[in-house]
Amino acid sequence: MAKFSDVKTQLPGPIAKELLEKRKRYVPKGVSNGVPTFADSAEGALVKDVDGNTFIDFAGAIGTINVGHSHPKVNHAIKEQVDRFIHTGFNVMMYEGYVKLAEKLAHLAPGDHDKQVLFLNSGAEAVENAVKIARKYTKRQAIVSFKRGYHGRTLMTMTMTSKVKPYKYEFGPFAPEVYKAPYPYYYRRPKGMTEADYDEYVLQEFKDFLVGDVAPETIAAVIMEPVQGEGGFVVPNKRFVQGIYELCKQHGILFVADEIQTGFTRTGRYFAIEHFDVVPDLITISKSMGAGVPISGVIGKSEIMDKSEPGELGGTYSGSPLGCSAALAVLDVIEEENLNQRAEKIGKRVIEKFNQLSDRFDCIGDVRGLGAMCAMEIVKDLKTKEPDKKLTNSIISEAGKRGLLLLSAGVFGNVVRILMPIVITDEQLEEGLSIIEESIEAAVENNKKPSLV
Ligand SMILES: Cc1ncc(COP(=O)(O)O)c(C=O)c1O
Repeated sequence: MAKFSDVKTQLPGPIAKELLEKRKRYVPKGVSNGVPTFADSAEGALVKDVDGNTFIDFAGAIGTINVGHSHPKVNHAIKEQVDRFIHTGFNVMMYEGYVKLAEKLAHLAPGDHDKQVLFLNSGAEAVENAVKIARKYTKRQAIVSFKRGYHGRTLMTMTMTSKVKPYKYEFGPFAPEVYKAPYPYYYRRPKGMTEADYDEYVLQEFKDFLVGDVAPETIAAVIMEPVQGEGGFVVPNKRFVQGIYELCKQHGILFVADEIQTGFTRTGRYFAIEHFDVVPDLITISKSMGAGVPISGVIGKSEIMDKSEPGELGGTYSGSPLGCSAALAVLDVIEEENLNQRAEKIGKRVIEKFNQLSDRFDCIGDVRGLGAMCAMEIVKDLKTKEPDKKLTNSIISEAGKRGLLLLSAGVFGNVVRILMPIVITDEQLEEGLSIIEESIEAAVENNKKPSLV
C-alpha cells in the first residue's frame, strides 16, 4: 500500500497538460524531459506536481539533491543571504562566503598539501576551468578523457564526452587536442578474463595509447570520473585508478578527478576518489554541492591553482553569494546528519534489492554500485548481453506512472540508475524499490504484447 507516492491523474494531469502545450510551443525540444508534468513543491525525497500528484524522487535532479529538497538549513542560509545582498560579483567586491567555502573544501579534499579553490557556475564550466588551469601549469595542450566519460555540453566538455547521440551528433567540429583512453567495463569484459587480468589488460591498452595516440610529454591532464555517471555507473577497481594515477605521476601529467556526479556524499564519502586511495591534483565539483543552487568549483594543489594571473579565471556569476551560502549549509548538513554513513546504508539496501530482482527477472544483466550510486543494466539476453534500451525506457515510464522519478544512463541507454536524496527515509526507500519491482513486472509484460505498429 503506497504511503508516499500518489498519482491520482493520468500524466500529464489537466494543469500540466496546459503547461505542456506552452512548453512545446516556446521551449525547444532539444531540452529533454522525464515525466510529463511540472513541479509545484518538493521536500526531502518527495516532489509534488501542479496537479497534486506526489512522486518519490530517485533521480534527485540528476544527482543534485543529495541533502534533499528544500532542506530547512539550506533554505534558511539562502534566504538570509537574499536579505543581505544577492550579488556584488567576487571580481568587484569580495564576500566572506566564497572564502569560507574555499577554506572548508580545501581541508575536506584528499591530500595534506596546500589547496586552493576556484568557484564557477556549472559542472561543464568547472571542467573547462580545470583544463585551463592544467594547461597553464604544465604548458602542455593535450587532454585525455575516457571512453563512456561525460563532462558536459560546452564545446570542450562535449568533445571530452563520449556518447555521440544525443550529446555530440552534428555539433562538431570539436575542440582539438582531446584524446579518449580506455576505461574498464567489467560486465562487458572479454569472456574468460578475470577482473584482475582485465585491469592489467586495460592498463596495458592505456600504455599503448601513450605510444599510439598521444605522447605523454604533451598531455596536460587526464580527467577521470571515479565512477562513470552518465556512462552507466561503471565502478572501476582500485588497481585501474591507481595504475592510471601512477602513469600520470611518471609522465608529469596532472590527474583530475571529475566528482561532479560522485561528490558530496553520493558514494559514502565527500569525494568518491577517497575509495581509491589516490590524491588528485585537481578535483571538479558541482551538482549536490549547492542543493539546487547553481555553483561549481575546482579544488587543487595551490602550486597548480595559483599559476594563473589575475583576471585569467572567474566569471560574472562565478561562486555567487547564494551558491556559496547554500554550499556551506550543505556541508553542515552532511556532517550533522552523518550522510556519508547513511549513503553506505542506502547503497547496501538498494544492491540487496537489485540482486533479488535480478534473480527474478532475466532482463537484469548486471547490478553494481558504490555507496548510494547504484544501477542495474537491462539486457535482451543474459548470454549475449545485448542492451535493451526500449525495455529500460519502459521501466522508467512505468515508474513515473506509479509515482517514482527514475533515470536511465549508459552509452546504450540501458542502465537504470539511482540518485535519490540521501535523506530519504527507510519507508520511502522501500516504497520506491517496490515501485521499481512493479515497474519491471509491467514493462516486461508490455514487452510480450505484440506491437500494433
Ligand atoms: C561527471 C560529470 N561532469 C560534468 C557534468 C556537467 O555538469 P553540468 O550539467 O552542470 O554542466 C556532469 C553532469 O551530469 C557530470 O555528471
